[in-house]
Amino acid sequence: MLNPMITARSTPNIALIKYWGNRHDAYRLPAADSCSITLDTPSVEVTVEHSPVFKLQSFLPDGTEKVLKEKDTARIEEHLRLTKEFLAKRNLPDAIPESVSIVIRSAIPPAIGIASSAAVFSALATAYSALASVNRALPLSDRDATIIARLGSGSAARSIFGGFVALKNKKDHEENKDIDSAYAEQIAPANHWALHDIIIVPTMEEKKVGSTEGHHLAQTSPMFQKRIEAITVLRQQECIDAILKKDFEALQQVTEEDCWDMHNVMQTQTPPLQYLNDETYRITEEIEDLRAQQHLPVLYTMDAGPTVHLFCEEEALDAIRAYAHAQKNCTIFEAKVGQGAIIKE
Ligand code: PMV
Repeated sequence: MLNPMITARSTPNIALIKYWGNRHDAYRLPAADSCSITLDTPSVEVTVEHSPVFKLQSFLPDGTEKVLKEKDTARIEEHLRLTKEFLAKRNLPDAIPESVSIVIRSAIPPAIGIASSAAVFSALATAYSALASVNRALPLSDRDATIIARLGSGSAARSIFGGFVALKNKKDHEENKDIDSAYAEQIAPANHWALHDIIIVPTMEEKKVGSTEGHHLAQTSPMFQKRIEAITVLRQQECIDAILKKDFEALQQVTEEDCWDMHNVMQTQTPPLQYLNDETYRITEEIEDLRAQQHLPVLYTMDAGPTVHLFCEEEALDAIRAYAHAQKNCTIFEAKVGQGAIIKE
């Protein structure tokens, strides 16, 4: 059996319809569908090879080695176990080695306020799936890679593809809690719509409660079930249609509606999660005013943190860039629509 060294590269994605809450925690099966835009930067590289014992190293953008917390190592080990469980279901029980050595090289500044887990697990899944395909006549599909990515971080499934991507539950998901009953699918490629993401980071503080713990308690919010229904009946399809038609106004409305809805769920779960701060509320209000005054194609969205993502079309770019750089004590990053996870030759 060949055991080559494989390196994959990937980037984060930002959700328009957000994934929040699971129907099965261990498998990270989402309670509802979601959709997102894959960014072209910043990237993460993950190298995987066979090793007699499990090994994990992670390097920061400045090249220094990150001191890993026990829970981070445990999460990657558990992901390897789940990946093997999935491969066994595909009749490929020994497709990846018993144990592996993993090296993560991240170009994502720790302070950027966008979770690197989607980039890490999509790169890792791409590397595992290439490794599993080396000795097989039939390689694993991209859909399989999205399932492997999802087992480490639900949103990571969407970074397997570039452009505009949906994370979907299988039709029979109410009864079906199988490991492969949710996967990602591309809605449109990166060159479909030239959107820009201007990212305003108001604080460098690390969040206290991560999304994994947050998902587990989402169902305690009295607003949870209503949100899941709204996405299932209407929002996900509205978002997909807006993307396909390149209807910015429709995309803005459904994205912002779902973003506030997710934060309302977070803030009413037990214990409550407040990821937004005063700066977030100020910026989103100012963007609403700016948009109304200048008729700018710009929308905002926030994940599990106070960072504001301002997606805009080309014609609004100068105005939004100028607005972002005028914010005191904020760090600004920029990204475009990216190509998704790839194997590095
Ligand atoms: O994939 P996770 O477990 O990091 O969850 C992602 C949660 C949000 O970023 C808040 C929403 C999303 O769909 O990306």
